[in-house]
Amino acid sequence: MPSALITGVTGQDGAYLAEWLLEQGYTVHGMVRRASTENFERINHLRDRIALHQADLLDQLSLVRLVEATQPDEVYNLAAQSFVPTSFDQPLLTGDFTALGVTRVLEAIRTVNRKIRFYQASSSEMFGKVQEEPQTEKTSFWPRSPYGVAKVYGYWITVNYRESYDIFAANGILFNHESPRRGKEFVTRKITDAVARIKLGVQQQLRLGNLAAKRDWGFAGDYVRAMWLMLQHHEPDDYVVATNEDHTVQEFVELAFEHVDLDWQKYVVVDPAFYRPAEVHTLRGDATKAREVLGWQVEVSFPELVRMMVDADLKSIERELRNQRDA
Ligand code: NAP
Ligand code: GDD
Repeated sequence: MPSALITGVTGQDGAYLAEWLLEQGYTVHGMVRRASTENFERINHLRDRIALHQADLLDQLSLVRLVEATQPDEVYNLAAQSFVPTSFDQPLLTGDFTALGVTRVLEAIRTVNRKIRFYQASSSEMFGKVQEEPQTEKTSFWPRSPYGVAKVYGYWITVNYRESYDIFAANGILFNHESPRRGKEFVTRKITDAVARIKLGVQQQLRLGNLAAKRDWGFAGDYVRAMWLMLQHHEPDDYVVATNEDHTVQEFVELAFEHVDLDWQKYVVVDPAFYRPAEVHTLRGDATKAREVLGWQVEVSFPELVRMMVDADLKSIERELRNQRDA
């Protein structure tokens, strides 16, 4: 039975990837960091099927011990400080987690067993001020946030360990991917959560920043399959994973409100507090290489994704309100 170690297993992608690997017959180990209260909502349903281990991207020895104890065939490095606005407020911590953290995981692999296959969660945020449209594996990077800069470091250190030590190390350059498990500070989930609350009468307004920003949004469940496919290929490489469609934040808003028969203009307020010091105005990825080499393709469309997220939030807030009434 193959085995895999996932850093960031408590995050959106970690939960989908753990499910996918279990379905493929893997033994799954998840790395979690210590917190005063457990933060396992996304993986509670998997708790009896995956093994959780404490370690931290900031602590090199904890990573070496973890790789030694679990002896995985594959390591998926999904852990990171992943929220762009926080990276402007905490640039040093972001660099330590999101950039140097990658080297620490690679060093653990180099120390324990160089045969372990490694996946790095690289990001379209690296393209930042885009140099061409759509972006491919060959497009040069111009990151626009400390998070993007840290991801560029993570990308290149992954390439460097592949070239220097012959480690099977692959970068997935993933464009934005969303789901009902997305953190509520990211724009898509902020919108769908608000739409559900407004529909159910428990919120009056939705305050957003730049409505003109364009993103290439896909479904996280589709994207974790691409991560796995990269590590099954006979040679390590770097791949863009995207839908090749872009939509503005406003289009997302319009579709989400339309799905519950509300007029978005009555509820949405533009608040400059959500503008960023430097914005990534547009992203659109060309995943031809992932499709042709790995056989990967998108299954959930943009409108399906929006509706899936609104429906899930409606259900979850109805449950929350029922529990409050019954308490
Ligand atoms: P997420 O929901 O924010 O999850 C991040 C995970 O990293 C959480 O499990 C978090 O643990 C963990 N983590 C953070 N700092 C850590 C530390 N010092 N030690 C150990 N664990 C730590 O992110 P996601 O959306 O699943 O994304 C997964 C990865 O893909 C990230 O690296 C992200 O930057 C990258 N990425 C995401 C997208 C996207 O659109 N979602 C696109 C491209 C790349 P806690 O639960 O304890 O906070
Ligand atoms: N978060 C947020 N909140 N974003 C807003 C808001 C708001 O109220 N209003 C407008 N936006 C705009 C942002 O300015 C940005 O242009 C866009 O919505 C998307 O923002 P996020 O959902 O926060 O995602 P992101 O694109 O900055 O970063 C995500 O995608 C990256 C891949 O490109 C994260 O998941 C990163 O971890 C990931 O690497």
